[in-house]
Amino acid sequence: MTNQLPLVLVTHTLPDGWLDSLHGRCRIVTGPKDATVLAPELKAHLSQVDGLYTLLTIRVDEDILDKAPNLRVVSNMAVGVDNIDLQACTRRGIPVGHTPGVLTEGTADLAITLLLAAARRLDEAVHDARHGLWKTWSPTGWLGADLFGATLGIVGMGKIGTAVTERATGFGLRIVYSDSCPNQSAESRFGASCLSLEDLLIESDFVSLHVPLTGKTRGLIGAKELRLMKPDAILVNTSRGPVVNTADLLLALREGWIAAAALDVTDPEPLSPEHPLYKQPNCLITPHIGSATRNTRRRMAERACENLLAGLAGERLPFCANPEVYSKE
Ligand code: GLV
Repeated sequence: MTNQLPLVLVTHTLPDGWLDSLHGRCRIVTGPKDATVLAPELKAHLSQVDGLYTLLTIRVDEDILDKAPNLRVVSNMAVGVDNIDLQACTRRGIPVGHTPGVLTEGTADLAITLLLAAARRLDEAVHDARHGLWKTWSPTGWLGADLFGATLGIVGMGKIGTAVTERATGFGLRIVYSDSCPNQSAESRFGASCLSLEDLLIESDFVSLHVPLTGKTRGLIGAKELRLMKPDAILVNTSRGPVVNTADLLLALREGWIAAAALDVTDPEPLSPEHPLYKQPNCLITPHIGSATRNTRRRMAERACENLLAGLAGERLPFCANPEVYSKE
């Protein structure tokens, strides 16, 4: 009887309890904890697999899909789906689940944390205190930037951009934003003005990126854009690393086109410990922890289970990243 249950490959070992709703409803084969590619022991099951539960470090491409003729659903435990070839899944009629909503607040908290940390040069100050460079109260030491009265440019006023805006207004920041379509609610709730990306970069003291990684947003912030920013501006990226051109950012930080950057995402990811960005005192880097709170990660896991189970049951996924798959029916 158990053999009749659908087969699901879970690309990583996840904490106890996160996959509870799958138990008894499918057979699960699990990959290693920190897998960055589909583990060979999972690849061996591809020809039989019904459902794939992935993390964002696993690329799901034509090669994997070709080997999985029975695959009925891919469920990504992330809101971003740039690790998945969405078009290839759609062509095959495979819905792809993702986890919007549950990580909005946690990611917005981190964006504000990074903004504050970069504004007040927290990384340098902590380093100097720890290494005996705090000799006295210094009237000119570790001077940072004020938030109150400054302008924050939000690139991408979706759920996370809006949650960052909500927090930022509490610090007295004025909000401008750019997006492919105007967000009336952000305009009326927060007095945010919609600008072109160029005008936003010219006007903002802080720029925070909240766009998904797509063909259009890859390299959105490169040399030309960084040169438009104010020399004392700070760039915060909690979206996806490739939205910013890494080499251009390094140059911008070295040559003072902008004052600082705070990055939770990098390109490549992870950034090798030898990467010159780590040597820049005006660059703060965290290891892609936007959604890394205990509750958020558990909710993401549960949402990914909901999507997976719906897909296995032939039902519409509650959170589907390629809804066009249903219009083909
Ligand atoms: C995290 O980066 C996510 O896309 O969920």
